[in-house]
Amino acid sequence: MTGPESEGSQVRRAVCPGSFDPITNGHLDIISRASRLYDEVYVAVMINKAKKGLFEIEERIDLIRQATAEFENVRVEAFHGLLVDFCKQRDIPAIVKGLRAVSDFDYELQMAQMNNGLTGVETLFVPTNPTYSFLSSSLVKEVATWGGDVAHLVPPVVLEALNKRLRKD
Ligand code: PNS
Repeated sequence: MTGPESEGSQVRRAVCPGSFDPITNGHLDIISRASRLYDEVYVAVMINKAKKGLFEIEERIDLIRQATAEFENVRVEAFHGLLVDFCKQRDIPAIVKGLRAVSDFDYELQMAQMNNGLTGVETLFVPTNPTYSFLSSSLVKEVATWGGDVAHLVPPVVLEALNKRLRKD
C-alpha cells in the first residue's frame, strides 16, 4: 500500500537512550513527554562495560520499569553495542534526548550528527523542565552518598534503592 493510508498506519517509534544509573525525575520527564508524542517509546539502557555503575543493568531496568509503569506505551531494554543498531533492529527512526543546558549541546550535537551519518536516524532534542536543569545521575549519587536529601529528584523506588545500596535505612 502506498500514500497517506499506509503512512497513517505506521507505528511511530522513538528511543530514549542513556546509562540510567539510576533513572532520575529528569529522565522520567523526558520519557513521559516522548510517550505522549510517539506510539511506542523504548527506553534503552546502554551497556558500557568500561564503566562500573552503582546499580547493575538488571537493577536499572527494574527501577525504570517500576518508575514508568503508568506509561503503557513505554518498554525498557538493555543493549550492548551502538545505539544506531538498537534503532535499526527495532525500526526506530528517532532518538529523543533531553537538553539541560548549553553545556549539554556540544556533545549531544556530535552524537546526533554521528548517529545520523551512520544510519540516517534522527535525534530530537527536548528542552528539560527547568526544575531539573541541574540534575544528573552522577550528582544524585554523590549527594545521596554523603547523606544529602534527593527525595525530590528521583522516583520513590529509586530513593528506596539508593538508601538500601548506600546502607542508610
Ligand atoms: O546517560 P548517558 O551516559 O549520558 O548516555 C549516553 C549514551 C549511552 C546515550 C551514549 O553514550 C550512547 O549512545 N552509547 C551507545 C554506544 C554508541 O552508540 N556510541 C556512539 C555514539 S555517537
